[in-house]
Amino acid sequence: MVRIWAIVRAQLDVSAFVITAAFTATFSQSAFAEDPGALLTRGEYLVNVVAACGNCHTKLTPDLLPIPGMHLAGGRRFNIPPGIAYSKNLTPDRDIGLGSWNDEQVIRAIREGVTKEGNLIGPPMPIALYIKIADDDVKAIVAYLRSVPPVRNEIPESKYKIKLQANLSPHRWTARLAHRSTRSA
Ligand code: HEC
Repeated sequence: MVRIWAIVRAQLDVSAFVITAAFTATFSQSAFAEDPGALLTRGEYLVNVVAACGNCHTKLTPDLLPIPGMHLAGGRRFNIPPGIAYSKNLTPDRDIGLGSWNDEQVIRAIREGVTKEGNLIGPPMPIALYIKIADDDVKAIVAYLRSVPPVRNEIPESKYKIKLQANLSPHRWTARLAHRSTRSA
């Protein structure tokens, strides 16, 4: 009798372990863990619609239309009160784009406004609006940026007249940019 109980108990322990493991696998991982397609779709939606990364990181024609083949390749020029800024190349090009950055470095750039080398990212990149992007969403953004074609597009250095600060609020610049967008192409 004692032996039978020991066997039953051992089986119960194993079942509990299997159930716990299955539960942990199901609920502790990202909602996208088992569906990379959904991750990319979400990332595309965030980059091209909600977070509007491409709005600044894609160079425009004089008619303010995205230049074909330059999607997210940077180089859009912003003549704003703090100086002249050029958006950077977000494509996976290894030398000029984000190809040599690891995922944590790209996530840090988006949420904390710091480059791979540790330099502050200046305006008009709206870091204050991105600080609270959820983990799943920022991972989806990175996954999508990795999926676009690499484009070799050298970007001039931005030249700021102000001293950049880590907590620089971009709100005043975004308001002014709305009036200046026709001059920024
Ligand atoms: C309002 C315009 C604007 C928007 C919107 C914007 N950026 Fe930027 N971003 C810039 C500019 C300008 C720079 C370069 C700033 C500088 O030279 O310090 C930059 C820099 C960066 C960098 C640093 C790259 C490098 O090589 O140093 C990354 C990464 C980046 N942006 C990613 C993003 C992502 C991802 C989004 C969307 C979630 C986004 N940006 C939205 C304007 C923008």
